[in-house]
Amino acid sequence: ATDILTDTFGRKHDYLRISLTERCNLRCTYCMPAEGIQLSPKAHIMTYEEIYTIAKEFVDLGVTKIRLTGGEPLVRKDAALIMEKLSSLPVQLTLTTNGVIVDKFIDHFKKCGITTLNVSLDSLDANKNSEITRRSYFEKVYQNIILLVKEGFNVKVNCVLMKGFNDNEVIDFINLSKDLPIQIRFIEFMPFDGNKWNMDKLVSLQKILNQVYSNFEKDDIIKCKDAPNDTTKSYQIKGYQGTFAVISSVTNPFCDGCNRIRLTANGQIKNCLFSSKESDLLTPLREGKPISPIVQKAIQTKLKVRNGMDTLDKFNKPDSHNNRSMIAIGG
Ligand code: GTP
Ligand code: 5AD
Ligand code: SF4
Repeated sequence: ATDILTDTFGRKHDYLRISLTERCNLRCTYCMPAEGIQLSPKAHIMTYEEIYTIAKEFVDLGVTKIRLTGGEPLVRKDAALIMEKLSSLPVQLTLTTNGVIVDKFIDHFKKCGITTLNVSLDSLDANKNSEITRRSYFEKVYQNIILLVKEGFNVKVNCVLMKGFNDNEVIDFINLSKDLPIQIRFIEFMPFDGNKWNMDKLVSLQKILNQVYSNFEKDDIIKCKDAPNDTTKSYQIKGYQGTFAVISSVTNPFCDGCNRIRLTANGQIKNCLFSSKESDLLTPLREGKPISPIVQKAIQTKLKVRNGMDTLDKFNKPDSHNNRSMIAIGG
């Protein structure tokens, strides 16, 4: 049998990220412009049935993990139904959320076999948090993270660092992992349409580690093992219940181990987070045509590193980021 999900570099794409919606109840500056984005017309958004049909096709091809993203996946009206239906597939089901309304879904997550959630939280200072998210939900999100832990979920906290803004909170975030068995993940700020990225705002893996090494004893900083497909380089402070990690897409890309394929809410395949060319699955699906040849082509045309931006120089060129806003990709 031909392995449709394996690319020309031998990477097997068994992890599907499905964006359920382009909408969100927050307005994070690194994710979307202040004025919002042009939303896809409703008729172009995948229905519940279409999501299931496409997901099932991917599972038949070899996908073993599905992550639901957005926008905010939980603001979609039929999010509960989608989780339930996808949970009938033989996959690890999980989601990335801003955490604002997760308390309403606790029992449903359990019912759907969801055990891990990634929650965004970029500042522990309520005012700064409101500045980043352009909304005021810090307390709610923080309490919801505690609630998820209490209810037995594995929680990863995603924190996008921006120089001069929240990079003074690295140690405070790490100290959250002292008594909470969570993983704190510092993410290098990445460029997407409308997020006013530039290299000067970046807090690199190296800068983060410098802070760690100047605040903790060398012997207390333990390097943890990362799986080959992980986005993270992870660490633990000796005696802490949780861990912390860095996602260094800009300064130290991890594309060699890439196993991800993305499906946008309007039914387009992205073969890389940074791909500018997308492959339409939804139109052929609606026309009753087979979609696996399109998937195969998308995988076969995937480039080795970051959609071809293999050096920092290339990556740093503003005109190379011909992409959507993050809110319409899902991370
Ligand atoms: P796990 O499945 O738990 O490992 O989570 P994840 O890190 O794959 O996903 P999550 O949605 O929590 O994303 C965290 C950060 O990693 C976000 O900034 C994503 O944009 C980024 N990220 C996720 N997958 C990729 C990827 O394939 N390439 C790059 N460059 N960044 C990624
Ligand atoms: N750079 C890095 N990470 C980002 N995210 C959103 N936008 C960016 C960006 N510009 C992260 C959010 C969320 C995840 C899906 O993607 O923190 O947790
Ligand atoms: Fe995969 Fe593209 Fe991310 Fe690299 S940048 S890990 S190729 S999705």
